[in-house]
Amino acid sequence: MEWNGDYVFWSALITFISLVWHLRRKNSYKRAKLPPGPKGWPFFGNLFDLGNFPHRSLEALRQEYGPIVWLDLGFLKTMVLLSAGAAEEFFKNHDLSFVGRFANDCTRSHDFYTASMTFGSYNTYWRTLRRICTSELFANKKINDTVSIRQKCVDELLLWIEHEVEESASSKIVVRDFVFPALYNMIGNITLSRNLMDPKSEITSEFCTALAGFTEGVGRPNISDLLPWLSRLDLQGIRKTMDASLAKAIEIISTYVKERVIERQQKQELSSEQKDFLDVLLDYRGTEKDGPAKLSEFQITIFLMEMFFGGTESPNAAIEWAMCELLQNPDQMKKINAELGLVVGPNKKLQESDIDNLPYLHAIVQETLRLHPPTPLLVPRKAVRDTNFMGYSIPKNTLVMVNYWAIGRDEDTWEDALSFKPERFLDSNINYKGKCYEFIPFGSGRRICPGLPLAHRMIHLILGSLLHHFEWELCDDGKIIDMREKIGTGARKLELLQAIPKRKTT
Ligand code: HEM
Repeated sequence: MEWNGDYVFWSALITFISLVWHLRRKNSYKRAKLPPGPKGWPFFGNLFDLGNFPHRSLEALRQEYGPIVWLDLGFLKTMVLLSAGAAEEFFKNHDLSFVGRFANDCTRSHDFYTASMTFGSYNTYWRTLRRICTSELFANKKINDTVSIRQKCVDELLLWIEHEVEESASSKIVVRDFVFPALYNMIGNITLSRNLMDPKSEITSEFCTALAGFTEGVGRPNISDLLPWLSRLDLQGIRKTMDASLAKAIEIISTYVKERVIERQQKQELSSEQKDFLDVLLDYRGTEKDGPAKLSEFQITIFLMEMFFGGTESPNAAIEWAMCELLQNPDQMKKINAELGLVVGPNKKLQESDIDNLPYLHAIVQETLRLHPPTPLLVPRKAVRDTNFMGYSIPKNTLVMVNYWAIGRDEDTWEDALSFKPERFLDSNINYKGKCYEFIPFGSGRRICPGLPLAHRMIHLILGSLLHHFEWELCDDGKIIDMREKIGTGARKLELLQAIPKRKTT
């Protein structure tokens, strides 16, 4: 962006006009009944209250302002929900009023939001994508049809780790370097019938870098969103990183699509059994009433990209956090090893069909998603109309953050809330399907994570297999693991987990 005089003049003028408009609007808001919240700075509002870890800073507001907090983030009016009760009222009784998403400046990069399911508006196009992925990818039958694909990817994962330990001088591994490509291959095989990565391949590091740039960019508070007329200046450089990251990710995924288009031109018509998810997308034909006539190559690329993004980063974060907790809780590690030994059996591979018989493994996954949710603020919603919410008048276009991280750590709901205790989920009916509002790591309502059923299988299968196949030890003579997090759209470990795997002999 070049700083020429004209641009600075117009920015200053627009800033002045906007300031006047903002102050007038603020007065009109005063007349409406809004939730309580901290006083903001002129113009910037509560921008500086967000800090580097918005989910933590926002949780701290609960004590003073209660479970529903109002923030002025520049021009963005924001409501934050901080209790299970407020979340229940929100999702159960007002889901449709808040079903929108906010297409922030980052998602405008390469027109991403126009084709995105995650950041797109609640409209016919969104419904079409949602219907396709629910019926063609995440329906129980489809997930059962792809059991062997996930098993193959896990077998490869275990072999990669074994080879690495045999070949490298140090016996420790960076867990993410292996789990991430395994997850990527699961999505790659389910959607495109292809193995796409291995831990050493260039594409692995390219895609990981692009994904990290994307998630960090989308999740960071961005002045361009709060003061939109300054967006061209890209004061924090977020848009620049985003443009580069998305360009790379689009290049990688669109290559798969283009290759398939050419392949299909050269091949005979496939039978429906031979078709995979990409074929379904390319074959899609809608009627005027129920969606677009067909999906463009760009729309298909973005749709697939979202499957890769959703299917890799969040499950990877959950697996890594679970391993960290277990490595620091030897009693729990013993318990899970005992359960796996008993149910799966020594020298046998864990199968997806074992998952329902592994209550302690499930409790570990649940406790991990309570204490370390991969998406701490879920994906923010937007009010699509003026709404009366719990006695407050919430204007159209208000951004809503449900701080699930705070809800999962609420001492009023969870006993000894900050401790990692999988036992709390044993003999409990609480589940993460979106109706137990104290435990909604996958969100709730119409926009609940569509990948939940697949994520459930992938996380249990990979985590259980890693634990059953290897004994795990901490590096550096059992030094305590750094549990700090890094924030983007999701929370992942700041320091990637390194640990020592030893093949179990019996
Ligand atoms: C540990 C694993 C995962 C977690 C914790 C997670 C969490 C979430 C959350 C909190 C939302 C927003 C829900 C809301 O607004 O109420 C979401 C949406 C979404 N997730 Fe996931 N997710 C996971 C895995 C997956 C997987 C495996 C996929 C796909 C392969 C996926 C694809 C999506 C998509 C496309 C959306 C947007 C849905 C919409 O706006 O309509 N996620 N996810």
